Amino acid sequence: MSPVPVENTTPQIDIGSLSLSDTDSQRTPHADKPTCPFPHELISESASCPLNVNPSTQEISPTLLRTSLPDRINYLKDFILFRHTDEEILHKVAPLVNDLIPKVVDELYAKLFEFDVTKVIFLQRNEGFDGPLPTKLEDLTLDSPQLIYRKIFMKSWARRVLTSDYSDPAGKTWSYMDKVGIMHTGVKAFRHREGVKPLVVPYRDCALSLGWVQTVLQTAILKLDEGELSMEEKIGAVSAVSKVIWIQNDLFARHYIEE
Ligand code: HEM
Repeated sequence: MSPVPVENTTPQIDIGSLSLSDTDSQRTPHADKPTCPFPHELISESASCPLNVNPSTQEISPTLLRTSLPDRINYLKDFILFRHTDEEILHKVAPLVNDLIPKVVDELYAKLFEFDVTKVIFLQRNEGFDGPLPTKLEDLTLDSPQLIYRKIFMKSWARRVLTSDYSDPAGKTWSYMDKVGIMHTGVKAFRHREGVKPLVVPYRDCALSLGWVQTVLQTAILKLDEGELSMEEKIGAVSAVSKVIWIQNDLFARHYIEE
């Protein structure tokens, strides 16, 4: 009887095809000269890249980030590159999407009414609202008087996002956006809400809502006619919306995670 052939189970690696340059490519690559990732910002040949491609390290105090809103805003703006051109393009877009804002807000509320965990929050009485209020979830509808009243605040927030003066880190705009974040955590932030039961909305739902608004606004911008807003401006506007929404997101998140 001939011996059973023993199969060689050791994996065979064919290194014959590996050339020196293949192995070289596994070493830390030497980056080419960095190129600007914001071509739309380069509106003229003489303009320079807004991104500091050779950054020196900024010193940031974690304590001040927590205790000083202007310091935090400066850091957020620097990090995400929120600049005056972002503010300008938001202001340019504002009148073009203004008429869509009621629809955006209606759709956001319809979204929040799709789930009991988000809908139930609207059974609470709003500050300043003394009209009829249902007590059961199924009786609460999107056209309930209190909901119509609530939407006014949300529309005002959306309009402020597009029209505010963002230049002063210690200014009213950032302070308002920060208070909007605080007031959803159960802490009273606005003087006009002092006499009312604290509002507690999970961070999860605030973040999801911000993401939802961001998508709707950006889609509306992209759908504008080229005559109203050039492609270059649309790219700038989409980027500016994203930046401001993420800053607002931080101004929610920081009060939930105490960071
Ligand atoms: C995109 C995220 C959100 C933004 C920007 C936002 C913004 C606002 C603003 C501006 C106000 C009124 C502030 C004022 O009194 O002047 C408010 C109040 C309120 N929000 Fe939000 N909100 C967001 C998410 C949510 C979510 C997810 C819920 C619930 C599921 C919610 C429920 C409420 C309620 C019940 C009030 C109280 C109104 C009152 O008692 O006067 N919000 N929000």
